[in-house]
Amino acid sequence: MTTTPRRIWRNRDRIEIGEAELIQHLTQCPRGSFGKIHLSNLPDWMDQDQFGTVLTLVNEKIARPGRAVWRFLHGDRRVPGSLAGSPVLDRELGGVLELADRFPFYGIRPAILA
Ligand SMILES: C[S@@+](CC[C@H](N)C(=O)[O-])C[C@H]1O[C@@H](n2cnc3c(N)ncnc32)[C@H](O)[C@@H]1O
Repeated sequence: MTTTPRRIWRNRDRIEIGEAELIQHLTQCPRGSFGKIHLSNLPDWMDQDQFGTVLTLVNEKIARPGRAVWRFLHGDRRVPGSLAGSPVLDRELGGVLELADRFPFYGIRPAILA
């Protein structure tokens, strides 16, 4: 087992599984109720405007400093200009993660929200 599966196993009693439409879920999330978010490959499922709404809500709700990451096969979505500096993409870390990823076709976009 690698480190991440061990950590998940250790914390298994604290994991809550929910199912929701992401924009609806983020809209009703209290501010500061999460500090990190993994958006999977949602950019492949959403157009630029929808993904921009997701990032705007993440920016509004995440505890600082926060970290977000998403991946994509088809749609490398922009961070909306209206967010001006938060989130900031960590392109160097993205390149390292892409090289280490077991699935070699995804682009990976880690970001810091300061
Ligand atoms: C390809 S799967 C990724 C599976 C897994 N999370 C992973 O990272 O390997 C992307 C998932 O996003 C879900 N999805 C698409 N649009 C969504 C939305 N607006 N809100 C919540 N989930 C959505 C799809 O139903 C699908 O299960």
